[in-house]
Amino acid sequence: MGMAINNLPQIREECEILQLSEKQLREIMVRLHRDIEKGLGKDTHPSSIVKCWITYIQDLPNGKERGKFLALDLGGTNFRVLIINLRENHFDMQSKIYAIPQHIMTGTGIALFDHIAECLANFMMEHNVYEERLALGFTFSFPLKQVGLTKGILERWTKGFSCSGVVGTDVVQGLKDAIARRGDVQIDICAILNDTTGTLMSCAWKNHNCKIGLIVGTGSNACYVEKAELCENFEGGQSRADMLINTEWGAFGDDGALDFVRTEFDREIDVNSVNPGKQIQEKMISGMYLGELVRLALAKFTRMGLLFGGRGSDLLFQRGSFYTKYVSEIESDKAGDYTSCMEVLEELGLDHATEADMAAVRHVCECVSRRAAHLVSAGIAVLINKMGEPRVTVGIDGSVYRFHPHFHTLMCEKIAKLVQPGLQFDLMLSEDGSGRGAALVAAVACRESQQQFA
Ligand code: GLC
Repeated sequence: MGMAINNLPQIREECEILQLSEKQLREIMVRLHRDIEKGLGKDTHPSSIVKCWITYIQDLPNGKERGKFLALDLGGTNFRVLIINLRENHFDMQSKIYAIPQHIMTGTGIALFDHIAECLANFMMEHNVYEERLALGFTFSFPLKQVGLTKGILERWTKGFSCSGVVGTDVVQGLKDAIARRGDVQIDICAILNDTTGTLMSCAWKNHNCKIGLIVGTGSNACYVEKAELCENFEGGQSRADMLINTEWGAFGDDGALDFVRTEFDREIDVNSVNPGKQIQEKMISGMYLGELVRLALAKFTRMGLLFGGRGSDLLFQRGSFYTKYVSEIESDKAGDYTSCMEVLEELGLDHATEADMAAVRHVCECVSRRAAHLVSAGIAVLINKMGEPRVTVGIDGSVYRFHPHFHTLMCEKIAKLVQPGLQFDLMLSEDGSGRGAALVAAVACRESQQQFA
């Protein structure tokens, strides 16, 4: 072996394009804020990029919700069916994960809904509720133009889904039709909701300051409590003060608003995705893309001769081979220790990596995840500033937030810098929002319809 040359300084320099200065973050905040206002405005909504969909959820849980509910959770890496029993101060929950095979993710809508209905029926059988007629909350984590609590028109697919014949149609009806085609189980679909909404509701059940729900998982998105009078697209009257808004901020940047900070790696991810030009901010933040961003940078530096002695591996140059969980693992090593890093590199066929290479790989991971955390922080700061409440809790879920060792801390630090002085916030892991949240939304919906008919 020759003298190891330390290329770290040059790699650091190459990575500077991944760093967002506070000035850039503030510019991003101005643009996102503008886009959110456009989404809320009646005249500007049709052409707005950040859609700010009305969710028809206006009441947060009060902790008194009770009963047995089914829930479906579609839109992350897994599809789940759950049964939740809400009791006083606690709840029981059982759930089962079902795979959504690739051919179903990109097949027909009919096949997707038939698959969901089949999993649901099997689950009901296994949990001895096959004969019961239960209320169901459907967490469907894609952009929905909601027309009511139980009617939602799919605007576009995200996160690798592309089932045909669903965009522009009511997905609740799609599910009902599939259940009817089977003809065996009886279900009352009480609510359809986004995972951000479920996360907020689930957190708000115990914490009454919770007014923002955030997901940093396969995708990224946030919802928040807005004054009903500012929701110009809500036509149901303003009998109640608040409305939960699903921002769908993953689409931010689709009009070029983020081009001033995007890199060659971001453009390459986008070009090779199933939805080029769409979900631009999401592609800089979420778990579906972070690993690939790291891989693209590593591949480039290897080709430049800066890494691994210029010698890569088949996997290093293969799309999708660097999982986002690797980023979390590598950054979990203590300073100066490269145990996980070495394991990952071995898995990728890069056993010839030197310690300097490992330091560089770790640096690339840090730059990519830090940029994601900073973008999310800028978004959260926009919402906190917009709401102007003295103290807001943000309920958060998703694999990136949950498993990345520093994401929470990075966010706390950055949001503190970006919010208006005097506004306090807490970031809270929201346990299983998509499941419990769906049950809560269904329960609140039932509570209301009972009151209505009482
Ligand atoms: C995507 C979806 C959005 C969801 C987010 C997190 O951005 O469009 O609805 O909330 O992913 O799962």
